[in-house]
Amino acid sequence: MQDDLAPQPLDRASALPAHFYVGAESAERDRRQVFTRGWQLLARADQLADPGDHVVGEIAGVPLLLVRGDDGVLRALHNVCRHRAGPLALGNGRGAKRLRCHYHGWSYGLDGCLLSATEMEGARDFDAGSVRLPEARVAEWRGLVFAALDPAATFPETIAAIDDRLAGRRLDGYVFHRHYDYDIACDWKNYIDNYLEGYHVPHIHPELNRMLDYRDYVVETGRWHSLQHSPLASDAALYGDGEALYWFVWPNTLLNVMPDRMQTNRVIPLAPGQCRVTFDYFYPPDAGEVEARHARDHAFSDLVQRQDIDMCVNVQRGLASGSYHAGRLNPKREDGVHHFHELLREAYRTPG
Ligand code: FES
Ligand SMILES: [Fe+2]
Repeated sequence: MQDDLAPQPLDRASALPAHFYVGAESAERDRRQVFTRGWQLLARADQLADPGDHVVGEIAGVPLLLVRGDDGVLRALHNVCRHRAGPLALGNGRGAKRLRCHYHGWSYGLDGCLLSATEMEGARDFDAGSVRLPEARVAEWRGLVFAALDPAATFPETIAAIDDRLAGRRLDGYVFHRHYDYDIACDWKNYIDNYLEGYHVPHIHPELNRMLDYRDYVVETGRWHSLQHSPLASDAALYGDGEALYWFVWPNTLLNVMPDRMQTNRVIPLAPGQCRVTFDYFYPPDAGEVEARHARDHAFSDLVQRQDIDMCVNVQRGLASGSYHAGRLNPKREDGVHHFHELLREAYRTPG
């Protein structure tokens, strides 16, 4: 195991070995050593605009309740009642005045402090005033809301270089249009590996390959993120001409920016060998005919997504087969994969 986790220079690197992609032990390692320490995209700011607006989510098995307080502060409270671990909220909502546990009705303020505990008068030395819901970290950025339990880096460190590259773009003002989920029979890292290289584009994405300029397909890597970009030439009714930008933000957030369109993905482990990938589409507020534009955008994106899913499912079978350990990476085309695997090795070397 230790040899598998030593840092590897790009031109000598192999992929992360297959056993990290398979089985319950790997899933538990990822939960403890990756997800507990990484920032997770959990909501859009428009879902949490006013006091009492709330969104439920989860990081590394910890149920969270993102809620805007009466004081305007956005908090990420543990959605786990201090009485006997019941849920404060079962779904997203707007304008709640307080948070009432669904199990026995203990009630908390929007800041997580216990306000009242039903029929607890007979409990000796019970100090309701000292009871409060634990909080995770939370950060708002360009219309997106991230949270973290025990992050290895601050949020500004995590996205600093992306912010610089996006300067001048109007993405924060983009309006959310629609959400889709894809449940896929592959490990979450397998899906991200595939996302992080354009090496496969000429082989499994003929339609996308006609739009991108494979010779000018560039990968840049930073401390906690990587960026793939390529000139883009597409039908004016689809994206038109410009640049395709694909960001990976450690550990599992993807931002896909085309001319006048942003798409976010979250790659969420569901179980060993199973993940869910979420797609949220955003367009500029002044985009005309947004429904027709979205229909074309989604049809194309879905086609590419299905091509990727078929390959990821096949690769998962290969990884689980026992036939394969770890192959050499292509230094010219797989530096994004190498960057991700180096971050994984670092996380796995750090005991959790
Ligand atoms: S678990 Fe919340 S009131 Fe009992
Ligand atoms: Fe792909």
